[in-house]
Amino acid sequence: SNLTILALSGSLRKDSLNTRLLTAVTRLAPPELTFDVFGDLAAIPLFNEDDEHPAPSAVAQLRHRIRAADGVLIATPEYNAAMPGVLKNALDWLSRPVAEGPVLEHKPVAIIGASQGPLGTIRAQLNLRSVLHKMNADALGQPEFVLPHAHQALADGELPAGSPSPAILTAVVDGLVGLIEHRRALASLGR
Ligand code: FNR
Repeated sequence: SNLTILALSGSLRKDSLNTRLLTAVTRLAPPELTFDVFGDLAAIPLFNEDDEHPAPSAVAQLRHRIRAADGVLIATPEYNAAMPGVLKNALDWLSRPVAEGPVLEHKPVAIIGASQGPLGTIRAQLNLRSVLHKMNADALGQPEFVLPHAHQALADGELPAGSPSPAILTAVVDGLVGLIEHRRALASLGR
């Protein structure tokens, strides 16, 4: 069956390696997956409890598109051993309002990341994972995908042929689809 994946890059940068990585995923994913790439992270204002009602339009748009998607794929950069503030800021918006049922609650989510350092976003992903855990998102535990030295690996915009990266990314996408199917099976049982 056809599934929609909301794809979110945690970088605002035009030549973002993480946005390139997401593009690479959309190219290698099976045709029954549709990717809705959210490119408007820059339009999400700084979170302020005074501005929650009504939600700013970019926030409402992101919530709506996540609700409409079967799963979410996040590519996070690593800033100072954590996820970038813009991504955390967006997650803070998504965690509210609690009364309406936050959009990431029980939502299947997969995490990937590319960085220029040798650790390839390991620490940013742990940070992102703990926030998603707090929000009761259904984050894929494994396989895990990190891309160190990504400015070299993605220099041509493509993952290097012969590297293990495409196969691992495919396995992450398969894992996300598995989570979605599992979630659907539970929903059909009324759980
Ligand atoms: C970085 N970078 C970085 N890289 C890393 O591997 N570990 C880190 O802790 C940091 N910290 C960090 C802080 C700040 C403020 C910046 C601007 C950068 C480098 C980072 O990996 C590189 O800029 C990536 O290219 C960012 O991802 P995008 O924008 O290309 O997707």
